[in-house]
Parts: sequence; C-alpha cells; structure tokens
Amino acid sequence: MKPLPIVVLISGGGSNLQAIIDAIEQQHLPVEIRAVISNCADAYGLQRARNHGIETRVIDHREFADRERFDQALQQAIDSYAPELVVLAGFMRILTPGFVAHYQGHLFNIHPSLLPDYRGLHTHRRALEANDTRHGASVHFVTGELDGGPVVIQAEVPVLPDDTPETLAARVLVQEHKIYPQAIRWFAEGRLRLDNEKPYLDGKLLERPTQWDGSR
Ligand code: GAR
Repeated sequence: MKPLPIVVLISGGGSNLQAIIDAIEQQHLPVEIRAVISNCADAYGLQRARNHGIETRVIDHREFADRERFDQALQQAIDSYAPELVVLAGFMRILTPGFVAHYQGHLFNIHPSLLPDYRGLHTHRRALEANDTRHGASVHFVTGELDGGPVVIQAEVPVLPDDTPETLAARVLVQEHKIYPQAIRWFAEGRLRLDNEKPYLDGKLLERPTQWDGSR
C-alpha cells in the first residue's frame, strides 16, 4: 500500500506525534510524515521529528497581524507538501473557517475529553471539578465548530479519588497514543471518510464514536 502523505501540526511536547512515528516504524502504519509544522520554535516535538529525519518548519503566529494571515501562511506551507491528511497533535491555535473549509474531510484533531463534554481548555481540571467518574480522549474530524466535529474514536479512563489534573492528564495521554494512530490507520487504509460532515467507517455511517477496547 502506498503510504498516505500527512503533515502534523504541533505546539508543544509532541508525544502524540511520537506515538504516530512509533506506529509507522513499529506497526507498519501506512503513512509518510512529509513535515511537522509548529507555531512555537521551542516545541519539543520539533526535536522528536528531527530525531527521525522528518522535515520541520516553524511559523510563529506572533509574526502575523491577524489570524487570517497566519492561517494563510500555514495553509501555504502545508500545501507545499501535498498531504492527504493534516493531523493536529496538540496544536493550540483556533483555526479560521477558511482554513478549516480548505481541509474539510482531511483534517483530524485529538482532544483530551470525551467530546461533546469539555470543549476548549483545562479539560482535566473541569472533569475533576465536576466529580466525573470517567474521562478520556476523542479523535474527531475538524469542522467549523471548535472541538465540535464528528468524533471517530474515543477512549475512556476512570477518574481516581486522588487524581490531580496532572495525574489524570497522564492517564488520558496513554490512551491518546493508542487512538490517534488507530484513527489515522483507518483513514490511510481508505476505511474512514467524511461525507457531508458525517463520518463513515467501512462504508457505514458512524452513528456514535467507536470505543477503544484495547485489543486492536
Ligand atoms: C494532548 O493532550 C492533546 O489532546 C491536547 O494537547 C496535548 C498535546 O500533547 N490537545 C488539545 O488540548 C487541543 N485542544 P502532546 O504535545 O504531548 O501530543
């Protein structure tokens, strides 16, 4: 199978990027990362990419007058690599409608909550404050609504009595590293697509997100 060309966007540590790289190298994920692009020059994920010989680019949002111009520069950079999928992996920027529309059906995000719960920031703290007993992560197609696009796969974790936002985040992150490569694999194998803002897996409408069961 010809590997699917992708571009990964990051802002920070890049542990999800690392999980994707590891899945390519160890589990034959049929994907070629053409570039990793960050809005932060000091994002550790850039080093992770370089360690594996992957091209990196920095486009610092602070150098642009407004969101539109930053997104235009970002889009131009991404498109120069001709990816078939753009993967947001801890990319902490709100994207403009034009950018999102340009990649409709070809743009994934991972979010640290069981969407539609806790869109936006500080998801772990908010789950603890609400005394939730379960929390988790979701991979979704990006549409115009912030953290609101169709969810493809979710993984749940229990919330433990002594959890802090940090311990809970760490438990969720372990699951993120499993579900993101899985969703990307489905897309790369042509099994997952977005049609009219609705997700289809193996030709069937995904009425609700797939739940990670650990055995895949
Ligand atoms: C991950 O927990 C990801 O779900 C979250 O940022 C972290 C990035 O970690 N993304 C968001 O909150 C997006 N709204 P990483 O850089 O180690 O992959």
